[in-house]
Amino acid sequence: MKQKVLSLLKEDEYVSGEKISGILDISRTAVWKHIESLREEGYVIDSVPRRGYKVTLSPDFLYPGEIKKGLETQALGKEIHHFHQVDSTNRVAKDLAAEGAPEGTIVLAEEQSQGKGRMNRHWHSPPGGIWMSIILRPKLPPYQVQGITLVASVAVVEAIKEVTGLTPQIKWPNDIYIRGNKVCGILTEMQGEMDQVRNIVIGIGLNANNEANDKESNNKDAKESKDTESERYSAASLSMFFGEPVDRKELVRAILSWLEKFYFRYCSEGMEPLLELWRSNSFTLGMTIILSMGDKEFHGTAEDITAEGGLVLRDSQGNTKVFYSGEVTVIGHGGK
Ligand code: BTN
Repeated sequence: MKQKVLSLLKEDEYVSGEKISGILDISRTAVWKHIESLREEGYVIDSVPRRGYKVTLSPDFLYPGEIKKGLETQALGKEIHHFHQVDSTNRVAKDLAAEGAPEGTIVLAEEQSQGKGRMNRHWHSPPGGIWMSIILRPKLPPYQVQGITLVASVAVVEAIKEVTGLTPQIKWPNDIYIRGNKVCGILTEMQGEMDQVRNIVIGIGLNANNEANDKESNNKDAKESKDTESERYSAASLSMFFGEPVDRKELVRAILSWLEKFYFRYCSEGMEPLLELWRSNSFTLGMTIILSMGDKEFHGTAEDITAEGGLVLRDSQGNTKVFYSGEVTVIGHGGK
């Protein structure tokens, strides 16, 4: 009901309490309570005697009602959970999934106290970023889940391009960089059995308008790598390149739209139609890289990506090996 009151308050003209109560068939007291509650959420609502009320400023929070407005997806974002502060949206999403939340359920937070990154790292999640988890229930075998993560990275790239006009690139498997700076990381977690996926949670951490630096680092590669050139890889926010704050709500809607489109396509046609898109947005392929897995390091040229999302690495002897996990550090242009 509060969302309905909000929609009326967002119309061009002032609307009286009496009119709202008539349209929504609720008491004047109920209308007033909803208005007060919206004010507490951060909406600035002007009130003019004999004319009524009108929203003059919406808060910059990723409230479900704000995201849903203009969202043209079938499943993604139909159910949205929003938190001002939470430990980890992936943790919440996994709990909701276990309780039976439908495919496409989204969890958003303004701030995370225990944001989780890949390899059990901490993900710094201050206000201003986009910290979002998406529940999917693909009818696919577990080995195809890695592909969904790749699909998600292409979706985020397309969304950033659409909303900001910037040109992000993907570092395998799914880190998103702009001009050598990591702006987004994706953590996919799967629940299921050996032969069947029960659900997956795609966690997207996008430095949108928040401060991002390597001190709190959402890009541990930069700190941990022994390679000096990797200093190029520092964390950054989209707004640093965009020149002004980005519209986070528009960006969330764009991510959901692109992800739904690519995800449906992946489930029906597999990775093949999306591979080219991933390749053309990647800055890993053709590069000389170090792939680290635990305390092991593999050197070579990143040659290609497989239909399952594996990275094909060619070593100096010309042998190829496919990797399905690991951390890539790009150290230069390959011999191609
Ligand atoms: C990475 O290490 O690159 C992946 C980072 C993923 C962070 C996101 S933020 C939203 C979601 N909730 C979490 O706790 N982690 C993911």
